[in-house]
Amino acid sequence: MGKPAASRPPATPDAKTAHDLMGVLPMTAEVCDGRLCIGGVDMTDLAREAGTALYVMDEATIRHQLSEFVKWTRYHWKDVDVVYAGKAFLSLDIVRIVEEEDCCLLCASGGELAYAVRAGFPMERVQMHGNNKTPAELAECLDAGIGRVVVDNFEEMERLSALAAERGATQKVLIRVTPGVEADTHDFIMTGAEDSKFGFGLNQGLAMQAVKRAIELPGIDFDGLHMHIGSQIYALHSFAKAIEVMVAFMREIQAETGVAVRMLDVGGGLGVAYGAPDEPSTVKDFGKVVVDGIKEECEKHGLDVPRMAVEPGRSIVANAGVTLYTIGSVKEIPGIRTYVAVDGGMSDNIRTSLYDAHYEALIANKADQPREMVATVAGKHCESGDIVVRDAPLQCPEPGDVLCVCATGGYCQSMASNYNKQVRPGVVFVRDGEWRWAVRRETYEDLLRCDLG
Ligand SMILES: Cc1ncc(COP(=O)(O)O)c(C=O)c1O
Repeated sequence: MGKPAASRPPATPDAKTAHDLMGVLPMTAEVCDGRLCIGGVDMTDLAREAGTALYVMDEATIRHQLSEFVKWTRYHWKDVDVVYAGKAFLSLDIVRIVEEEDCCLLCASGGELAYAVRAGFPMERVQMHGNNKTPAELAECLDAGIGRVVVDNFEEMERLSALAAERGATQKVLIRVTPGVEADTHDFIMTGAEDSKFGFGLNQGLAMQAVKRAIELPGIDFDGLHMHIGSQIYALHSFAKAIEVMVAFMREIQAETGVAVRMLDVGGGLGVAYGAPDEPSTVKDFGKVVVDGIKEECEKHGLDVPRMAVEPGRSIVANAGVTLYTIGSVKEIPGIRTYVAVDGGMSDNIRTSLYDAHYEALIANKADQPREMVATVAGKHCESGDIVVRDAPLQCPEPGDVLCVCATGGYCQSMASNYNKQVRPGVVFVRDGEWRWAVRRETYEDLLRCDLG
């Protein structure tokens, strides 16, 4: 989840302007009259008109990323589903965009499924995963008629079978396997113990037992296998290693049961650039490693090539988004640190407190000025750990400036909370010089709506 602070070099003023930060900003970012514009919209004007804190999503970047995955996976094999992982960022607008870009949708809860239903998304293109789907959520999947359920444990499989049988339905399932390959940003390590709350391990024979049970249970159609080795992965050989393991398992399944695995879903996890020097792997390289890897392994084992799926989340939305804040105060502690306080914080971006994530920041109304100082961007919550960006090179900050934190399109709005009864920011989509509310800002009434006291 990004390099921990201890392994990052100490921050220094780096004289970078917005021009030097294009690698972490949405693809439509530009500097106009010294101010940051995204999707043809001036971020300073937007912040003042729509208010802050505010999530801004660039529609062109989202569409571009989805189409890159479609292009560079189907370039190597015709039958690949690009299944956008809604957990990264979900709103009705993005569900419609995912549909228009010929992609599928991965849901992690009944709540996420409700967005797909409300948006009228084609249900056969929905997959549901999660390590403890409730009976109610399983029933919701069946009633909605979704494409596939990714089965995570034996109890769930039995429940799904019974619920499907009650309805006279048959549900396609993928069995989630932990391939024993753990990924980080630099290398992979084998996790012999397969110590994960997700899925069925291979080593103790659980995955084979699960496949056999799925084949025999009524109401369930064993369609294939699923894996997900991690997130923010830079080293593509982790995927290659896991694919080797999974295809070898496909061969074992065929040998022991006579059943061919029809689908192999390799999950998500492609890393993105959070810092200006970051150079993640490209979607093109990812497509080649994954799709060619599966084809080559199948050939090696004499297997038919299955339908494939990839589940990108972060790599679709992270760099499509920024968060805008208004600077309230600047506190200089001589010889120690300068704090820049903004009108949001850990309630709209928990990743810094949770993972020690690091972001690039700039002042939208001073975008072409060099970042001549280092400051820590602090939130407004009652926690000293409420930091948005620690030790950020920054243009000289003043109260009233619009501060832009880059690459916040993934796992920020979707992980937001009402801590300190802070209302959650709205989401604005920008496109072709226009902006629109995709999700309105919450109000105090929203906070009080569920309180029956
Ligand atoms: C099963 C599964 N698929 C896909 C994803 C998306 O991963 P990412 O956002 O890293 O691409 C996740 C996220 O953790 C996941 O759990």
